[in-house]
Amino acid sequence: MIKRTLAACVAAATLSTAAQAADVEVLHYWTSGGEAKSVAYLKEKLTEAGVGWKDFAVAGGGGENAMTVLKSRAVSGNPPTAAQIKGPSIQEWGELGFLSDIDSVAKANNWDALLPGVVSDVMKHDGKYVAAPVNVHRVNWLWANPEIFQKAGATIPTTWDDFLVQAKKIQDAGYIALAHGGQAWQDATVFEAVVLGVGGPEYYQKAFVELDADALNSATTEEVFRVFGEIRGLIDENSPGRDWNVATSMVINGEAAMQIMGDWAKGEFTVAGKTPGVDYACVAAPGTSGSFTFNVDSFAFFAQSDADAQKAQQEMAKQILGQDFQKVFNLNKGSIPARLGMARDEFDSCAHASMDAFVSSAQTGGLVPSFAHGMAVPEAVSGAIYDTATNFFNSDQSAAEGKAQLIASIQAAM
Ligand code: GAL
Repeated sequence: MIKRTLAACVAAATLSTAAQAADVEVLHYWTSGGEAKSVAYLKEKLTEAGVGWKDFAVAGGGGENAMTVLKSRAVSGNPPTAAQIKGPSIQEWGELGFLSDIDSVAKANNWDALLPGVVSDVMKHDGKYVAAPVNVHRVNWLWANPEIFQKAGATIPTTWDDFLVQAKKIQDAGYIALAHGGQAWQDATVFEAVVLGVGGPEYYQKAFVELDADALNSATTEEVFRVFGEIRGLIDENSPGRDWNVATSMVINGEAAMQIMGDWAKGEFTVAGKTPGVDYACVAAPGTSGSFTFNVDSFAFFAQSDADAQKAQQEMAKQILGQDFQKVFNLNKGSIPARLGMARDEFDSCAHASMDAFVSSAQTGGLVPSFAHGMAVPEAVSGAIYDTATNFFNSDQSAAEGKAQLIASIQAAM
């Protein structure tokens, strides 16, 4: 009896060591309904592949909180196995020597051929893959509740001037025009849509990606702040601090007519059982129909000394680029697959619009990286833009003051 119990204990201990050795601890900030469903599928795929999942979720839209926690863990010599890091930050972590490459997986599975150049370039450090992309989000979307529009006698706007006119009609009919969460990254998301819609992609690229002094110091920048300032009056008084998914639920529930947000918002409509084109509309943010602000989510891998941990990382990287994962994850998340050549039929009309715009905007110069979502400029500069946008939006600064502040804060951060 004792012998049998001991044997069982040894077997269990062996099992748990094996499971532990193959664990991945994954830092992410996907905690809303649609996001949680998406990340749960990654866990499911890894479990199927024999890799254990240690969840390291840090709530907070846009990931600012998660990045703060990641820095403290990394500095104390205890980084997670993988973390949701994207854009130029991947390079910054790579330069600091924290990342391990997953190039053997990428080569064996031909990632260079599976990914668009605009995505694969960002995943590499020193020519080697150090991160795996899960999706492509389009940020410049307007989400609308058609019933409210109808009741208010309003039409879905296609320019920012028209947006201001239609929003007024909606307010007069007793609804909140724009569902908004007063957090710096959400202010910056709306600001980014105004920059693109008012200035166009060429101005966007020059001013907010290349940080060209003349483009920043132009009449266009002042016009951007004028329009952005008008939006202050279109949100409700309870917006300060509100989470983005709570703002989305206001459009879903018929409290507010519109939200300007990336297509992770679609994940919330999907979880609520809503159908695009019937229960809600997804259109390009005003003035941006030919453009696409891209935001690619990815997991970067932190250097591990343990061989089993490295193996688990490689399995995770392999699963992420798999067709199953790219399909199901993106159906839940609201984004489109990062992997090329995926079947479109199970995706909805919003995803089709995004897929088409991704391809066409790349040909016309309208494909630009999102500065509000860490894709365009180093963290210090995007922080300066966040601060300017949020200070302006929450004050009565004039457009001229907004522009001056923007130039000064970008210069100080460079
Ligand atoms: C974005 C991120 C999305 C989504 C959103 C809200 O920056 O790329 O995946 O999570 O923030 O947190």
